[in-house]
Amino acid sequence: MHLSILVLHGPNLNLLGQREPEVYGRLTLQELDRLLLQAAGTLGVNLTIHQSNHEGVLLDLIHAALGSYQGILINPGAYTHTSVALRDALVGVGLPTVEVHLSNIYRREPFRHHSHIAPVAVGQVSGFGADSYCLGLRALVNYLHPPQPPQE
Ligand code: DQA
Repeated sequence: MHLSILVLHGPNLNLLGQREPEVYGRLTLQELDRLLLQAAGTLGVNLTIHQSNHEGVLLDLIHAALGSYQGILINPGAYTHTSVALRDALVGVGLPTVEVHLSNIYRREPFRHHSHIAPVAVGQVSGFGADSYCLGLRALVNYLHPPQPPQE
């Protein structure tokens, strides 16, 4: 089966490139999306990518994912640390989810150390810039379609 993955960028990620470049790097969101689409091509999966600054829009996108996507790759931005609703939506649809962060949230301010999403995610990749997304995508695809061991 051909996998389709939904990629969600949360609030303020539209500002990538100009937003605190010392923390988030100089890559724009458009450039990051291009890298992700390239990685998806190599992995042979379909990607649909959305960014929203609105919690409710992210919830609606997660609800609508059921039936169309097999997994979700999400950078919830600041909603990571605040949104029980986002966590409930992910649990509600039950789609395997990988959480990613450009920065290493554990070496930043204490309020960023807690994620409401991590306990309901398959896993989390944090601190590798754009690579967090590419590694997270690969991990999600391998989780959904475990690679077969080489035949003797
Ligand atoms: C972030 C980390 C969050 O703490 C922050 O609010 C963001 C970006 C990251 O990708 O490093 O907006 O999710």
